[in-house]
Amino acid sequence: MDVLSQLSIIFFLLGTEMQCQYENYELEEDYDQEADAYPPTFHFNPNVDYRAPYFQYPADCARECFCPPALPRSMFCDNRKLKTIPNIPSRTEQLNLQFNEIEAVTTTSFLNATSLKEIDLSHNKIKSHKIDYGVFAKLSNLQQLHLDHNNLEEFPFPLPNGLERLLLGYNEISRVHVHAMDGLINLTMLDLCNNQLHDSLLKGKSFSNMKKLMQINLCNNKLHSMPPDLPSSLMYLSLENNSISFIPKNYFQGLQKLAALRMSHNNLQDIPYDIFNLSNLVELNLGHNKLKQAFYIPRNLEHLYIEDNEIENVNITLLCPSIDPLHYHHLTYIRLEKNRLKAPISTYVFFCFPHMHTIYYGEQKNLAGEAIHLKTQVFRRFQEGEEDDNDHEERSEQEEMEDDEFGPYSY
Ligand SMILES: *[C@@H]1O[C@H](CO)[C@@H](O)[C@H](O)[C@H]1NC(C)=O
Ligand SMILES: *[C@@H]1O[C@H](CO)[C@@H](O)[C@H](O)[C@H]1NC(C)=O
Ligand SMILES: *[C@@H]1O[C@H](CO)[C@@H](O)[C@H](O)[C@H]1NC(C)=O
Ligand SMILES: *[C@@H]1O[C@H](CO)[C@@H](O)[C@H](O)[C@H]1NC(C)=O
Ligand SMILES: *[C@@H]1O[C@H](CO)[C@@H](O)[C@H](O)[C@H]1NC(C)=O
Repeated sequence: MDVLSQLSIIFFLLGTEMQCQYENYELEEDYDQEADAYPPTFHFNPNVDYRAPYFQYPADCARECFCPPALPRSMFCDNRKLKTIPNIPSRTEQLNLQFNEIEAVTTTSFLNATSLKEIDLSHNKIKSHKIDYGVFAKLSNLQQLHLDHNNLEEFPFPLPNGLERLLLGYNEISRVHVHAMDGLINLTMLDLCNNQLHDSLLKGKSFSNMKKLMQINLCNNKLHSMPPDLPSSLMYLSLENNSISFIPKNYFQGLQKLAALRMSHNNLQDIPYDIFNLSNLVELNLGHNKLKQAFYIPRNLEHLYIEDNEIENVNITLLCPSIDPLHYHHLTYIRLEKNRLKAPISTYVFFCFPHMHTIYYGEQKNLAGEAIHLKTQVFRRFQEGEEDDNDHEERSEQEEMEDDEFGPYSY
């Protein structure tokens, strides 16, 4: 089973509310541009005319907005150069205000809007001090709040305790109130990528109260250490492009549900050998760090990214200390380019990881840091278009092992 289907099953089991979150988290086998991999949370639909003529229906719809009769609980005011928030009918549950020039969030705007479940205020010009104190906290039905792509300097506080999804990416957040996280017990998804967060801001903040938290994104910040006190419900942790150099030995002990860990573009150098021994881990991205050594690969891991590190030799005994024929490892894909390898990995790798289909070697670096090529740049096990199905397992294992290095399937 591939990662996508495995994860979709997990998310399916957790309920359909996870679907949006899953969209946020796109697993792509060949993604190369991690910097761009952080997907925008609002997906522009080119088929929608965002400047559609304004409906005058129903009567209480704000003049600037569009209230489609088919969606009586939604009001669309996005992409209209609005500078202020229009009047919100009290029946509104879903409010779209993204892509405007709104600078302030005032108490009067939301006075009657107590039914609101979802507010999208992303892509505006909101500054923290222009948000009236407590304006969101009064909205006791609010589940989803998009404030990404604004000019916030501070984590919004207070917020309603029922909130489930909070998107704060692409702001300038460098302040967090000491109690900012305390009440957010129903949060499942918290996105704080692309802010100015540093270690001291997260100290003493109780993420562990968030007993339903499944996804936390902290990419493109200024962290030097792993975020403390994460809840055991966590499945997806994004820490790309920080300055983390170290993972404490027992860090993941309480995070056994972790399915994806992204830590590319950090300063990792030495990590405990068995640090990633997590039975649910499917994707591990440690590209663009300073790792020198291989480490233990957990059984369910499918995709491993360790490109652009300082690895001289992938010691297969470390990767895979023993083979259990009843419980094969699931690894299918390794990215290894821009390391210091002098030779491809030992063919023993296919005994340990029988599902392996691609090892990407690309260019390697020599002592002087110059690019060198190994005999193989990309190793592919199965022919193009062929399914990597368990049934193929026996196919040519023996043949491959006897063949010279990478045999007939490499090119
Ligand atoms: C890393 O984050 C910094 C800002 O903190 C940004 O300027 C840089 O482009 C990011 N690099 C990558 C590879 O994403
Ligand atoms: C709130 O509702 C009251 C009563 O329906 C109405 O008079 C008032 O104008 C509304 N205020 C706003 C800001 O929509
Ligand atoms: C949290 O979610 C549960 C289940 O949906 C709900 O019953 C509860 O009222 C919510 N808590 C708050 C503080 O809204
Ligand atoms: C990984 O963890 C399991 C139990 O969780 C343990 O039995 C096993 O020895 C560990 N393997 C390594 C290499 O640490
Ligand atoms: C690989 O690691 C094992 C266990 O640490 C060690 O005994 C062995 O010498 C290593 N092999 C190479 C080629 O470095």
